[in-house]
Amino acid sequence: MNIPFLDLKTQFREIEHEVLPMVKEAMENAAFIGGPQVSGFETEFAAFCESKYCAGVNSGTDAIRFALMAAGVGPGDEVITVPHTFIATTEAISQVGARPVFVDIDPKTYNMDPKKLEEYLTRRLGVGSTSTQKQEPSTQHPAHSTRHPASGTQHQEPGLQQQPKAVLPVHIYGQPADMDPILEIAKKNNLVVIEDACQAHGSLYKGRKAGSMGLVGCFSFYPGKNLGAYGEGGAVVTQSEEIASKIRMIRDHGQAKKYYHDLEGYNGRLDAIQAGVLRIKLKRLANWNESRRRNAQYYNELLSQIKGVTVPREMDGCRHVYHLYVILVDDRDGLQKYLNEKGVGTGLHYPVPLHLQKAYADRGYKEGDFPVTESVAKRLLSLPMFPELTKAQIEYVAQNIRDFMSKK
Ligand SMILES: Cc1ncc(COP(=O)(O)O)c(C=O)c1O
Repeated sequence: MNIPFLDLKTQFREIEHEVLPMVKEAMENAAFIGGPQVSGFETEFAAFCESKYCAGVNSGTDAIRFALMAAGVGPGDEVITVPHTFIATTEAISQVGARPVFVDIDPKTYNMDPKKLEEYLTRRLGVGSTSTQKQEPSTQHPAHSTRHPASGTQHQEPGLQQQPKAVLPVHIYGQPADMDPILEIAKKNNLVVIEDACQAHGSLYKGRKAGSMGLVGCFSFYPGKNLGAYGEGGAVVTQSEEIASKIRMIRDHGQAKKYYHDLEGYNGRLDAIQAGVLRIKLKRLANWNESRRRNAQYYNELLSQIKGVTVPREMDGCRHVYHLYVILVDDRDGLQKYLNEKGVGTGLHYPVPLHLQKAYADRGYKEGDFPVTESVAKRLLSLPMFPELTKAQIEYVAQNIRDFMSKK
């Protein structure tokens, strides 16, 4: 049996009858940028996320970058996030001139550990302080060097004091981070909260939608996401009209009125054809997420009986949408090779924690700084996960994992 890691072709057959006429209509009307498809999608996605506003943008990376800019994050600011994420999270932080700093993850959820966030802020700012109180000298922590990775010293004034300004939890694999304590710690320390919900379309935290809890929620519509475009795409959602209108300007060269530029922005718009695709898919997203959850449950049933395999855990009060189904095993490389030989596609999300990436070598981080992230990165393996996965396919994957583990 051959089981791809991700199958987007089967899904296309389900929606082809709606997608192709939509594309034809866009071509016939020459309606490519902006227009009713984009505004229609924004209204529908804001409602889906239980947020007042949505602005479509060109990618998840743009969503995070524009959210940070609109929130006033820039040179001299620290943004606290996790090393267990895709590099887009920290690229966006660096690209606005701020500095990403890391706190470790929770070993059960693989999401930001609120205790580690609190510990970091206590160490950084002093017990019970707010961000306006006692500061460590910028040279005392490896993350406080003043060099900007992408652009040398361009964004950082030499000797500029870094101050924690924002916290950026990532809802990794489709399960929300533990937002209540994160929001409380952020409030106590005057930090803006920006959610990286790029993997978590439709997931719930204590009844609240991912992306709706912080100042801004950021989404990616990269094709393989639970809600994926047929090209690049992204969106921000927010309850703030001011933030939404700033992001609308930033994504469109800093203009609210054509050729009147209040600021320098970007060419970062969502295009009309992608918005049309997303509208067609959004109607089905709740069902597709349900299918992913069913598939995850069946995997859990079969795999939790196998010694040496750790299956994902859904936390109390959370609704995981399984963008990725990730297990932990000690001989990860061996299992991945074995599954590959048996025709099963797998992935690694992510094999090298961000603090150990070459791109951040100048930050002075070293192995051992974030032990939970490091341990998870060595053992994680993403199994095939998509709504159309069949029971027989899941059984085949599980049987091969059982065979491999029994030979250990
Ligand atoms: C956690 C996370 N953040 C950010 C991004 C960036 O999204 P995009 O690829 O649309 O720029 C992704 C997408 O891969 C992601 O998984």
